[in-house]
Amino acid sequence: MKYVIGVDLGTSAVKALLVDQSGQVVHEASANYPLYHEQSGYSEQRPEDWMHGTIAVMKQLLDLDQVSAEDVEGISFSGQMHGLVLLDANHRVLRNAILWNDTRTTTECRWIEERLGPLLLGTARNAALEGFTLPKLLWVKAHEPDLYKKADVFLLPKDYVRYRMTGHIAQEYSDAAGTLLLDVANKRWSSAICSAVGIEERICPPLVESHACVGTVTADFAAATGLSVHTKVYAGGADNACGAIGAGILSEGKAMCSIGTSGVILAYEANQSLDVAGKVHFFNHAQQDAYYAMGVTLAAGYSLQWYHDTFCKTQSFPEMLQGMASVDVGAKGLLFTPYLVGERTPHPDANIRGSFIGMDASHTVEHFTRAVVEGITFSLRESLDILRDAGKKIGSMISIGGGAKNEAWLQMQADVFNCEIVRLTSEQGPGMGAAMLAAYGSGWFDSLEACADAFLRPALRYLPVPDHVAKYDQLYRLYQQIYQQTSGLSESLAAFR
Ligand code: XUL
Repeated sequence: MKYVIGVDLGTSAVKALLVDQSGQVVHEASANYPLYHEQSGYSEQRPEDWMHGTIAVMKQLLDLDQVSAEDVEGISFSGQMHGLVLLDANHRVLRNAILWNDTRTTTECRWIEERLGPLLLGTARNAALEGFTLPKLLWVKAHEPDLYKKADVFLLPKDYVRYRMTGHIAQEYSDAAGTLLLDVANKRWSSAICSAVGIEERICPPLVESHACVGTVTADFAAATGLSVHTKVYAGGADNACGAIGAGILSEGKAMCSIGTSGVILAYEANQSLDVAGKVHFFNHAQQDAYYAMGVTLAAGYSLQWYHDTFCKTQSFPEMLQGMASVDVGAKGLLFTPYLVGERTPHPDANIRGSFIGMDASHTVEHFTRAVVEGITFSLRESLDILRDAGKKIGSMISIGGGAKNEAWLQMQADVFNCEIVRLTSEQGPGMGAAMLAAYGSGWFDSLEACADAFLRPALRYLPVPDHVAKYDQLYRLYQQIYQQTSGLSESLAAFR
């Protein structure tokens, strides 16, 4: 039997899947690493922590009697998007990586808007948001000029790990699209953008397709992990693009809801003409020459994690979520907004913060749990509404990630989104998408669609319950007012953080 490995370099952990030729996940492993929040709004990681984690999960995956390293034909990656990794001329890391959920760059974003004008939506196809890579580059240039002068190349998180695995520097289009430096339609670094913002094009790495072979495993990396030096390494994709591949979002009309640390509603686009006016992101897919549009809730799973760690630490996650099922739709008038680290869609606002509204002496912890999960889901509905308003017909969605692990939450998604929700046999979208890129790159299939037909199966379907849909519609309208009513307060409170 031959195998591929899909590595998902996430925000809280790296997870790796060993997948056989029938698409079965034979073995999986994960390793956590910390986030550093040195100041409010800062979010960083140490690239070396990613390396330790990746080496550890590779070792674990190969620790199976029936699998020999020579049988692993290919490895590919899914990666947390936008994070800035700066390397010097010797390809040594210059500083901690600044991550997608770091919001220190509001000043840079306003400056980019001024400098780029129509190039922003015309060429980069996206609004200037704190999480994207260009504002981070400009922040380093302004605040750490000596360090910036030493920068030889910038990479995104998974590109750095792949570089350490293969010795080759490369970036692929689906992640490059999240930098604001890519000419999305023409698939090349935009000289016009680089010169308008004063970023030297020479620090932009060579671009490749997601299924392109970047190299093989180096002798050092093979020695550290037990992998074979003959195993080929394929470029991979942004986590949302890989999540889409792993959910089979490979043709027009398909859409997904992905809830990891962030939450995403994503719709496939066969061509680059959809005009979303920067209200949602528009990126290159990891399927060649395709695109997707998506809205992002910055703290989706992260809100639930925070809630668990702060208020329900003694319970396991499943126990905590079980409590929510005993509470009616609407959590007895308790609403939550998930703006713990600011927000992206539909409110690009780094200062907004979350709230519980409507607390009542009769509320129990179960009401709070339900309110948190409903708030995250309402926030995702705001992205879905933008896509529907832009003309996307979304009557069914594949749900992946943490949000697809709990039955009550899956039903809630169907009710809040008023659409069919499908859960696949594996909810591990990004890792599976990465494995599929390795399988396609290795020549196991003629196309990613053929690979999806062989690897992916629907497991369960959830249909909207009309009574719940009506109640959630009313509550959603109230939820939507919270942003307007609390943004001024959040702004004033920023001084106290
Ligand atoms: C997408 C985004 C997040 C990260 C999470 O624009 O910032 O979804 O990719 O890993």
